[in-house]
Amino acid sequence: MRPILEARDLTKTYRTGEGEVEALRGVSLAVEPGEFVAFMGPSGSGKTTLLQLLGGLDHPTSGEVVLDGVSVSFLDDDRATRLRREKTGFVFQAFNLVPLLSARENVALPFLLSGADPASREIRSRVDDALRLVDLEAKAERRPAELAFGEQQRVAIARAVAGRPAILFADEPTGNLDYSTGLEILQYLYRSCTERGQTIVLVTHDAQAGAFADRVLFLRDGRVLEEIAIGRRAEHPARPLIERLALLGQ
Ligand SMILES: Nc1ncnc2c1ncn2[C@@H]1O[C@H](COP(=O)(O)OP(=O)(O)OP(=O)(O)O)[C@@H](O)[C@H]1O
Ligand SMILES: [Mg+2]
Repeated sequence: MRPILEARDLTKTYRTGEGEVEALRGVSLAVEPGEFVAFMGPSGSGKTTLLQLLGGLDHPTSGEVVLDGVSVSFLDDDRATRLRREKTGFVFQAFNLVPLLSARENVALPFLLSGADPASREIRSRVDDALRLVDLEAKAERRPAELAFGEQQRVAIARAVAGRPAILFADEPTGNLDYSTGLEILQYLYRSCTERGQTIVLVTHDAQAGAFADRVLFLRDGRVLEEIAIGRRAEHPARPLIERLALLGQ
């Protein structure tokens, strides 16, 4: 099978007032269609930087990203934006919902922005389908302030997957949530993967979150230090992953 996402020898150097920061020092990886991959590693190891390069939000200093057969690293901003809209969905720690819009309107917003008619039957059915995935059909007319934090993040997940992106990127999606609400969010991400075949790349500090993935890439100092294969299972105990991470000195 052709990987849906490939990174070839990515480096990223940030130039700051105090000098240069080598955030990535040569990362290569491949993600298969339908796979759930997690990036873990200490603060500052380069996880967010890597996610931004993979998702076409930023350019690498050297190396290349190929997303669903298209080399994204050298596109101009307009084409990168279009490719991102077509092929990627993002979920962040902050839910980034529009306060004045209902949950349903928030989920429909990306279609509106890409010029589609949100009233069309096709778009309405995609929006309904995404709301169903996160069990929010009954609260679809509420505004974000009328929803619990976990529910707001579920709206953000629905918004990210409604366009059926090739890849869903999630950077610390449980970072603002308590433990059990965070677990719920992971269950929904996992569900999108198992029920819809959604490919997911998750960044997390949390071994319990990483344990939902099929595979964990552990970063340190801008490199992939270790790859931990977990495999697809119905249960997601954190302990085996915690033990593997402990061997890495984490
Ligand atoms: N825009 C930027 N300008 C300058 N340096 C940056 C920038 N973004 C990140 N860095 C630096 O690059 C390195 C990697 O940062 P990155 O945010 O990718 O780490 P991370 O693994 O996501 O950390 P965390 O777990 O804290 O989110 C760090 O040393 C960071 O200070
Ligand atoms: Mg980060």
